[in-house]
Amino acid sequence: MRAPEGTKSIRDVAAEAGVSVGTVSNVLNRPELVAPATRARVEQAIAALGFVRNESARQLRAGRSRTLGLLVLDVSNPFFTDVARGVEDAAAAAGLAVILCNSDEKEERERSYLDLLEEHRVHGILITPVKGVSERLRQMQLRGTPVVLLDRWASTRNHCSVSVNDVYGGELAVTHLVERGHRRIAFVGGPFSIKQVHDRHDGARRALLAAGLPPSGLTAVETPALNFSSGLAAGARIAEIAPGQRPTAAFCANDLLALGLLQEMTRRQLRVPGDLAIVGYDDIDFAAAAAVPLSSVRQPRDQLGRAAAELLIEEAAEGTRHGHRQIVFEPQLVVRDSSDHGVPAG
Ligand code: RIB
Repeated sequence: MRAPEGTKSIRDVAAEAGVSVGTVSNVLNRPELVAPATRARVEQAIAALGFVRNESARQLRAGRSRTLGLLVLDVSNPFFTDVARGVEDAAAAAGLAVILCNSDEKEERERSYLDLLEEHRVHGILITPVKGVSERLRQMQLRGTPVVLLDRWASTRNHCSVSVNDVYGGELAVTHLVERGHRRIAFVGGPFSIKQVHDRHDGARRALLAAGLPPSGLTAVETPALNFSSGLAAGARIAEIAPGQRPTAAFCANDLLALGLLQEMTRRQLRVPGDLAIVGYDDIDFAAAAAVPLSSVRQPRDQLGRAAAELLIEEAAEGTRHGHRQIVFEPQLVVRDSSDHGVPAG
């Protein structure tokens, strides 16, 4: 659904006035929250652009709570708490609160939280789905609850989404390891049914091909989950490979796996990066603070959260005139001691 040609959106008003979408939403719905000078700037922009609020959307919203629902996969993963911080900052700027829910990567928990959030008539929902967009989620959107996919790219134009180019992130990690001379590289992550894992592995494979190296140089060490204990278990499997065949480097699908792998290698008196270079993904704060500072592909977590919340606020304000957008951020590689080392001779 795109806004009819010529009509101005809440985003145009925000750009014209030099404020956030949340501030425009407040001027429209709770002007008492906005400083008079700012309110005047926004009202001037509304007049200059001829922006017409969607009264039916406002009335529909009027029956809604001043709360956003945020449904994440694993609330114990600092990646999601960092993203939640960005969501909360943008929501607070628009006078909205946030209900944080943890699906724990289980579809039935996701569904029960969606029921609860719809009962609470939330302003909208930000979700990292366990699998794809479920029928339950589609029903909610059709019944008028805005939904924005977070850390997932919406392959159709039926949703807004905010995500990171994970294929490029995988390429960054393995290109770095190839440049450090590594030719036997483990990819640690799973299940592969999770799109981020699949895309990061795809990027890793592309990096080998781009360097003219055989795909056999990348060994998948699949894990049942993306957590610390799975990293420990992957470390045990890698350490038990005979030194002549053992990978000299590992690219992990996220930092929790990488930190578990790092701890297991250290426990077994294997050197990082000397015996095994390690690169993680997310660049959570614990990465830099690790015993051997961890190289990682940095995701812009705060920006992800803010952008997702602002898309949701826009959609709630614009109703059927809203044009869905898919925002994709680029990750960047942060090199630290855990991989900044050439391959040992011999
Ligand atoms: O949900 C697991 C992972 O996917 C997180 O660590 C983060 O990388 C996300 O993209």
